[in-house]
Amino acid sequence: RKKCFRISTGSKQWDSILAGGFQSCSINEVYGEFRCGKTQLVHTMAVMAQLPKDQGGAEGRVAVIDSEGTWRPERIAQIAERFGVDPELANENIVVGRALNSEHQHELVCGLSERFATGEYRLLIVDSIMCNWRTDYTGRGELADRQQRLGQHLKHMTLMAEEFNITIMLVNQVQSDPGASALFAGADGRKPLGGHVLGHASTTRILLRKGRGEERVAKVIDSPDCAEKEATYIITTGGIND
Ligand code: GTP
Ligand code: MG
Repeated sequence: RKKCFRISTGSKQWDSILAGGFQSCSINEVYGEFRCGKTQLVHTMAVMAQLPKDQGGAEGRVAVIDSEGTWRPERIAQIAERFGVDPELANENIVVGRALNSEHQHELVCGLSERFATGEYRLLIVDSIMCNWRTDYTGRGELADRQQRLGQHLKHMTLMAEEFNITIMLVNQVQSDPGASALFAGADGRKPLGGHVLGHASTTRILLRKGRGEERVAKVIDSPDCAEKEATYIITTGGIND
């Protein structure tokens, strides 16, 4: 079995709750309400993954599945500058696919196998995992079908993470109905989309929320090797930071 590794987040607080960073060979999920920094975090990680190993990176290329149309190369350029990486090179090392619906999203992920087989890729980002599934399967009667397809899709990604020694980061939203959240959620009253199917697929789950002022808070919810600790962070031009 290949040796798994962790990609540093560039934030000391984040790294400390994650025992060094986001782990390869598995699926990591970050979820939380709008504007809490999920998209900014994965942009930061797309640069971190490229850094030399002695700087916490993985010296690898990055694949992005963008289902919300929120990927911004100009943000990558700004974050790259913070870490002394050539901004153009940073973007050249990132391949981005725009997922138009859930079937297309699955095809895009399957199509990455050839790239991953080169051994050059270390990180796969999906921002966000559920957005297409939610719009494609709207009726209550379609839920079982949705969850079955979603399960197959996630199983495929789990196998890819293991086979190619890749860190997978899924961005996820939370249920907007506060009543439902209060009934089913954990301590923070926020329930991620995707139900048990996504819950089982994610090895590590991180809940993001707004804190005081500009401050944001990340909390490890479910991890085999990290305690349920919290980290505070801010969003800067150079990405997420302490
Ligand atoms: P949704 O996708 O809407 O669920 O939200 P999200 O969790 O993905 O939020 P996102 O990562 O897009 O974070 C939005 C926040 O990042 C806003 O508060 C912005 O002000 C902040 N932000 C975005 N770009 C920059 C930037 O270049 N500099 C700074 N300082 N903040 C930024
Ligand atoms: Mg976002």
